[in-house]
Amino acid sequence: MKKILLFASGAGSNVENIIQYFKNNDSISIVGIFTNNLHAKVLDIAKYHNVFSFVFNREELNEGFVLEKINKLQPDLIVLAGFLWKMPDVIVHQYPNKIINIHPALLPKYGGKGMYGMKVHQTILENKEKETGITIHYVNEHYDEGEFIFQQNINIEDCQSPEEIAVKVQALEHEHFPKTIERLLDY
Ligand code: GAR
Repeated sequence: MKKILLFASGAGSNVENIIQYFKNNDSISIVGIFTNNLHAKVLDIAKYHNVFSFVFNREELNEGFVLEKINKLQPDLIVLAGFLWKMPDVIVHQYPNKIINIHPALLPKYGGKGMYGMKVHQTILENKEKETGITIHYVNEHYDEGEFIFQQNINIEDCQSPEEIAVKVQALEHEHFPKTIERLLDY
């Protein structure tokens, strides 16, 4: 059995989608949802689907406690699905090429610290970009700079608001993120 550990900070539509996708899979399971946000909707999702959840603060993330928790679960893949804090080096180094992130734009454009969620879509709209997309990439020591695993672009010339862009990007995320995870675990 291959084990996925999810990290998320917010609404958790990707978490929900990933759980649904692997629900009836006999060889891949979700072993936990870790969050920095006590009020994150992902906690309700975890409870609903009977998945183990864990809430941590910044100190616990950066000073080894979260790493201990991860090690106990022995995940094959750590998936950041809307996780907005930086993964500390101590965790990145223990899990080389085993932590992946999804970013709601075509990196290397519109990435880096402070670029997440709606802020990305707002900036893309202001810059009158004709297209945007998603990037799934390995996590290294620097924000949004790890090796790319998958990218998909989409035309946004008909979008008038960041919310409209978000809807298109989210659809791409939901279509491609679970499939990419499955492909990575199929070794
Ligand atoms: C997703 O669009 C994801 O790409 C983005 O946060 C959203 C979370 O949505 N991640 C980042 O911006 C990371 N820099 P969700 O909580 O509904 O899955």
